[in-house]
Amino acid sequence: MAFKQLVFSGVQPTGNLHLGNYLGAIKRFVELQDRYDCIYCVVDLHAITVWQEPTELPKTIREVAAAFIACGIDPKRHIVFNQSQVAEHAELAWVFNCVARLGWLNRMTQFKEKAGKDRENASVGLYAYPTLMAADILVYRATHVPVGEDQKQHLELSRDVAQKFNNDFGDSIRMHGFGDAFFPLPEPLITGEATRVMSLRDGTKKMSKSDASDQSRINLTDDADAIAQKVKRAKTDPEPLPSEEKGLAARPEADNLVGIFAALAGTTRAGVLKDFGNAQFSTFKAALTELAVEKLSPIAAEMRRLQADPAAIDAILADGSARARTIAGETMKAVKDIVGFVRA
Ligand code: AMP
Ligand code: TRP
Repeated sequence: MAFKQLVFSGVQPTGNLHLGNYLGAIKRFVELQDRYDCIYCVVDLHAITVWQEPTELPKTIREVAAAFIACGIDPKRHIVFNQSQVAEHAELAWVFNCVARLGWLNRMTQFKEKAGKDRENASVGLYAYPTLMAADILVYRATHVPVGEDQKQHLELSRDVAQKFNNDFGDSIRMHGFGDAFFPLPEPLITGEATRVMSLRDGTKKMSKSDASDQSRINLTDDADAIAQKVKRAKTDPEPLPSEEKGLAARPEADNLVGIFAALAGTTRAGVLKDFGNAQFSTFKAALTELAVEKLSPIAAEMRRLQADPAAIDAILADGSARARTIAGETMKAVKDIVGFVRA
């Protein structure tokens, strides 16, 4: 069966939105709007898998919504909402908890990283996180999912869940007239020059919201001075830039900065090295600072403007949630019939 093409993705409201979130995800969300119907979600249910201060969470939810819009997502043509306003995500996640296998979840590297050594003390939600993510996507029967590299394994699990549901309930799916498969197998869209932006302090570590050092990341809300300072201090090696891409292979910090430049400028690493091959880092960093400030300052300014009116953001999220609920409600009705639940 052919499924209607639909894009879904989500970002957690956990503070410190950074350049990795922008280049790996949100910038790509913006680009997809012209080709697909898109649903972009502030995944607050995912956020509380680790502790979130109740007085801070509303601000972080509105901040991600503001970032979506400031970066250029159109909430009228597409759907922008926060996950907790559409109960069907949690409802379908429960069904998926009964489809997914413990063995699958035990392989998830993000859980291992986030739970760390004290695994006994991690929340059950952190462990079950990937089945909720599968539900986010599949409650809309979305076909395409733009994400950064780090989400690839979760996307594979989402496909496995969809596949197993389709197989396990195959007879019922056919009996209810849904053809041979009820869920599409969602495709990850992991493309571009910045699918894994690395820390500015350590080219082997991912740029992350939770890194203790603010110097490790460029935040979407950083001003020009902060950006300049962070780029200036970014770790490098003593050699000038190579003139060809293969010269970046064993140089993680150089590779990262060139990748960031390429993604911000809308070109490739090879293209950047055409201009900056053999340049010293001091020259390259000055150009990178200028480019980053040029691209990020308008976003930060627009985010500030939007966040000054929380009621307007809440209205956008309410409207998006209502439209999301309509689609998700239809899916849940069908799932209940397929599973064999009685509903009036
Ligand atoms: P999160 O902050 O974990 O909710 O991530 C939101 C989106 O940003 C996901 O699609 C991630 O894959 C993406 N992302 C997060 N960190 C990075 C990074 N360092 N480089 C590229 N993409 C990232
Ligand atoms: N797990 C994603 C992250 O941490 C966020 C997310 C939740 C998501 N649900 C999703 C991404 C569905 C894509 C599709 O980055």
